[in-house]
This record gives sequence, C-alpha cells and structure tokens, in this order.
Amino acid sequence: MKSDAQNTDAESVRIEKKLSVGDVVEIEIKDVAHGGHFVAHHGKQVIFVRHAITGEKVKAIITRINNKIMLADTIEVLQPSKYRVTPSCEYVSDQQKIKCGGCDFQHINIEYQRELKEKIVIDQFYRLAKFDLRKFKSIDSEDFHLKSVAPATGLGWRTRMNFAVSKSGKMGMFPHHSNEILEIKDCQIADSRLNVSKFATQNWNGKTKVSLELFAEQVQITHADVPGVFWQSHINAQETLTDYIGEKLIVKPAAKVLDLYSGLGVFGQFILKLQPNIAALTLVDTNVESIKIAKSEFASLLKQINPAVKFNTSASEVLKYLRSEVQSKKSQERTWDLAIVDPPRSGLNSQIIDLLAQLKVSELVYISCDPASLARDFAALQSKNYHLNHIRSFDLFPMTQHIETVAIFGSGVE
Ligand SMILES: C[S@@+](CC[C@H](N)C(=O)[O-])C[C@H]1O[C@@H](n2cnc3c(N)ncnc32)[C@H](O)[C@@H]1O
Repeated sequence: MKSDAQNTDAESVRIEKKLSVGDVVEIEIKDVAHGGHFVAHHGKQVIFVRHAITGEKVKAIITRINNKIMLADTIEVLQPSKYRVTPSCEYVSDQQKIKCGGCDFQHINIEYQRELKEKIVIDQFYRLAKFDLRKFKSIDSEDFHLKSVAPATGLGWRTRMNFAVSKSGKMGMFPHHSNEILEIKDCQIADSRLNVSKFATQNWNGKTKVSLELFAEQVQITHADVPGVFWQSHINAQETLTDYIGEKLIVKPAAKVLDLYSGLGVFGQFILKLQPNIAALTLVDTNVESIKIAKSEFASLLKQINPAVKFNTSASEVLKYLRSEVQSKKSQERTWDLAIVDPPRSGLNSQIIDLLAQLKVSELVYISCDPASLARDFAALQSKNYHLNHIRSFDLFPMTQHIETVAIFGSGVE
C-alpha cells in the first residue's frame, strides 16, 4: 500500500536546492502538517519530516526534493518527545532504515495521535476555508472534536488490505514514496481474521498485487489492479458513521434523497431505515459492479420497507449525473431535500457544488476521508449559501495519518 502524501501543506512551499537527497540534517521538529509529516526548518529551508514528533530533535535523511517541496525521514531521535512510544510493529521501528509506508504514526502514543489529528482538521479549515473550528458550536451547541473509535489500542482494525508482491513472490508494502517492496510477515493494524501472517508465508509469484478482504467472516483474495467494490476498512466504521448521522439528521417523510459516490449504498440503506417514508432515493457511483449489487439488495429491502419509494441508480460519474439532472429539469422541479456525498480523497469540486446548489439540495451530509479537500469544498459551499450545522471527526484510521470526518451542511435558501 502506498502512502499518499501528495496533498500535503508542503506543496505551496518553494525551496532553494541547497540540500540533496541522501543528506542528513539535525533539525528541531515543529508543528504537525497534513499528510503524515511534521514541519522543520534548516536555515530558510522548510522540510517535511516523517516519523518525528513536535518538540523533538532528530537526525533526518532527505528523501525527496522537487521544485516545490523537500521531504525527509527520521533516522535517529536525539531528544525524544514524551509522546514517543516503541511501535509494536517491527516494520516501523526506529531500528528499521526503510519503514513500511502503511503506518505514519505508530511511533506516537495513540491518544496523542488523536490530538494531532484534531489539530490537523482545525488547521486545514483555518487555512483553506478561513473558518475557526475552535470557535464553532453546532446547532445543538457541541464543540468540534475528534472521537476515538474502538479498538482503543488502534491495532487490529483493518478488514481490507492491499499488498504488493516482491520479486521473490512474497507479500509486501511500499515504503513512503518508494517502489521498493518491503516484505512483511504480519501486519499489526490488520484484523486478526484477515490472517495476514498465514498468507504472508505463501508464494505469490506471477501476481503483482494481493488484496485481502474480510467479507461475511470469510477472507476474499483478489489480484485485480483496478479498484473493486468499496466498503469502509475499519471494523467499526459503518456503525460509527451511521450512528452519528442518525443522531444529527432528521429526514422528513416524502424527502427526495441522493446517495452520491454511493458504493453499495450503505448510507442510502441507512436513510431508508431511518425514514421509511421517503419519496425517492437515487444512488450514483462509477463502479458498475457496486451499482449492480446495490440494485439487487435494494430490490428486496424496498419490498420489506416501502415499495412506494421511487428508487433509481446511475452507474456514472457524479458530475455527469448532476449535469444531466440540471439539464433535464425545469427550475421549479430541481429540488432534492438531502444529498449524502462520500467522495474519494480528492473530494468534490466547485462544479459539483454549483450543480448541487442548482438542484436546491437543502441538506448535505458530507463524509470525507481528507480534511484538506473537505475544507476547500466547505469554502465553495459557503459561497453557495450553505452553512455548517454539525461536524465530527473520527479516528477510523489509527496509526496512519488518515482522518474521517462527517460534516452536515444546511442551505441558507429555504
Ligand atoms: C469513499 S468510497 C464511498 C463508498 C460508499 N459510500 C461506502 O461508504 O461504502 C467512494 C466511492 O466513489 C466512487 N467514485 C469515485 N469517483 C467517482 C466519480 N467521479 N463519480 C461517481 N462515483 C465515483 C467509487 O467507486 C467508490 O465507490
């Protein structure tokens, strides 16, 4: 699995090419940045450092320089933070020169990881939407916080994992920004039922990828390079997210609901159970297989719950679907009461947000796996008269830099 740090705050920083890849520098570690890095300075040079912690003094090796950013990895901790812990995984230990790219934060105490993640969300909202989440109160007076999710240890939660295959046919992981494959014997964040240690002993010669997925208590093994049917990887993700949405959202009878980036339609199903008397539900996802499965699952679900619901699916891009909706409808018909959006890390964009506004979507539930794209989209939503009613982040990717956030927006236009 390749870590994705392309979206770091670092991207806006120009560097002077004084240091070279492979150089070792002694630096003091400042704030946490988005993307699994911490900020440090070497002279005027900003460096984004992995496997460090705010307040530490470390020796770091420069791993990448391009015309915008300089990245480094910690190779020796000179003054450790009180939040530094010994990782239980040998592939991210301080002794390991090339570390697994799957976990960014295993060297950090789990409670402190969560504090850092909360700070990252606050920083992104401040930088990209000029919005101070520290002063935000939801409509029911709740402050913004990141919530931890069981298991509290942050280990044993992943039910879906992709591995690369090494030249010798063994399962492995990519180190950060590297094509070298680090062979692994086990994975600490994987759910034990995935049986990583058993599959890691097998020979996978002839394959380039091994995907292990826990599905109905069975491990499914696939080798496809294209993304398959999506579902959340944390063992408690679905329940955590739907519990929060159910607590905050009131869905009125006769509501017309869009489930965009629907996958199998887990959120659409949830809304239907929450309010069986909705008038219409449409699922949109590019993945044809997901839509096919969703169609058959909803056929039986609607029979049980409410056969009168007008149910539709579209195996297409969200942008294309929304454009055709806007074009095919007269302005007085362009009304959707609720849209749930659960996009990939890149988020929505201003075109999609503009179309949602044209369709007069009055409430928007945004499930985001990237606080930077969420904050950017929030700025665009504000310009279309949407306001933030609720927001909560969840630690659904412990030990990694990733953060899941649910934000619920209302439209200013009644
Ligand atoms: C983060 S997943 C969410 C899936 C689902 N809501 C769930 O929680 O199981 C994102 C989904 O968006 C779909 N997708 C990616 N890009 C898309 C696009 N441009 N238009 C429509 N669907 C897209 C993927 O196939 C995937 O199912």
